[in-house]
Amino acid sequence: MKRIQIINGPNLNLLGKREPTVYGNQTFEAYFQELKTLFPDAQLEYFQSNTEGILIDKLQETGFSFDGIILNGGAYTHTSIAIADAIRSITTPVVEVHISNVFQREDYRHHSYLSEVCKGCIVGFGLDSYRLAVEAILHF
Ligand code: DQA
Repeated sequence: MKRIQIINGPNLNLLGKREPTVYGNQTFEAYFQELKTLFPDAQLEYFQSNTEGILIDKLQETGFSFDGIILNGGAYTHTSIAIADAIRSITTPVVEVHISNVFQREDYRHHSYLSEVCKGCIVGFGLDSYRLAVEAILHF
């Protein structure tokens, strides 16, 4: 059974309440239950933090034993060399996901420090971006 860790960064704990026109109405906790039902043969784990160092700790903790990591770094995507270095340092492949299509949004969201060190990126499909990322990891 493949082990997959989902890591969500800052403000993603507010999904369902936060800018629903951009991020939708569903909480991640509710979506995560659906995801687990869709993939009964995978072991899915979910973690969220608003703090950069705690996200790095989670990448280091899971990044040598899990089969794949799905990372939505939130705004740290556009700022964090430290998270990029953590991804470089681990052996588990990381899939970068974004709920919104960051390329349709402000210029400062067009650059990601994470993309170049991730296995691939899934951007703009709403919460379905996470399902697509699980599919990708299951096909590694
Ligand atoms: C996001 C896009 C980021 O630019 C933003 O800062 C987020 C969410 C997304 O999933 O669309 O917090 O990562």
